[in-house]
Amino acid sequence: MNARSLVTAGLVLILIAAASPAPVPGAQDGQALDRKVQAFLGEHAGRWRDMNVPEADGKILYDLIIKNKYTRALEIGTSTGHSGIWIAWALSKTGGRLITVDIDEGRYREAVANFREAGLDAFIDARLADAHELVPDLSGPFDFVFCDADKDWYKNYFVAVLPKLTVGGCFAAHNVSARQRGRGWGSAGFVEHVLGLPFMETTFAEGSWSGLSVSYKRAEK
Ligand SMILES: C[S@@+](CC[C@H](N)C(=O)[O-])C[C@H]1O[C@@H](n2cnc3c(N)ncnc32)[C@H](O)[C@@H]1O
Repeated sequence: MNARSLVTAGLVLILIAAASPAPVPGAQDGQALDRKVQAFLGEHAGRWRDMNVPEADGKILYDLIIKNKYTRALEIGTSTGHSGIWIAWALSKTGGRLITVDIDEGRYREAVANFREAGLDAFIDARLADAHELVPDLSGPFDFVFCDADKDWYKNYFVAVLPKLTVGGCFAAHNVSARQRGRGWGSAGFVEHVLGLPFMETTFAEGSWSGLSVSYKRAEK
């Protein structure tokens, strides 16, 4: 190869390198985190015993956040952290953060340990508090709320959060189905209320056998 060919080959290599896609910042970290979360969820599959959501519902919450690119999440009712892990895993991809609250100290401590073990603690602000008091005090705004605490307080949580919920944001509530309308107990008052609001668009997740309502805020209120 003469000098001219060498220069030409060098130039071609430089052009190929320049045309190659730049590495996505944080992509490798993201893959490592995915592996850590998947390993954690795999180890704990079938072993959640503290009123935690089933895996199918965790996946629904994850998909809702990814699909809508939500970043400012609130969970009412952490328990030991199963749903929080699905929510925070999605938020690790959208660049978001979760505030989650539980009143029970034992479950709160276990959740904090689980968040750390899953590698998601940087995305979660876990609070030990009575949500009846904390939720009205939070400043928000939130674009995703998952309500999974005391059922007879769901309507109050919803009313407290509504002014802080962004338009396009979503209030998802667990153990809620359309069949509860008119039953008068548990989360029935919430179901009646939210279905009667014209600016809220409510559906019930089909893949959830526990019942999961998904209410999108369509206008400022
Ligand atoms: C159904 S469990 C939550 C399960 C959790 N979302 C999961 O999937 O891992 C309900 C939790 O709500 C909590 N809770 C009930 N009343 C509460 C209150 N007033 N404030 C905060 N947490 C409350 C309970 O201590 C319990 O851990």
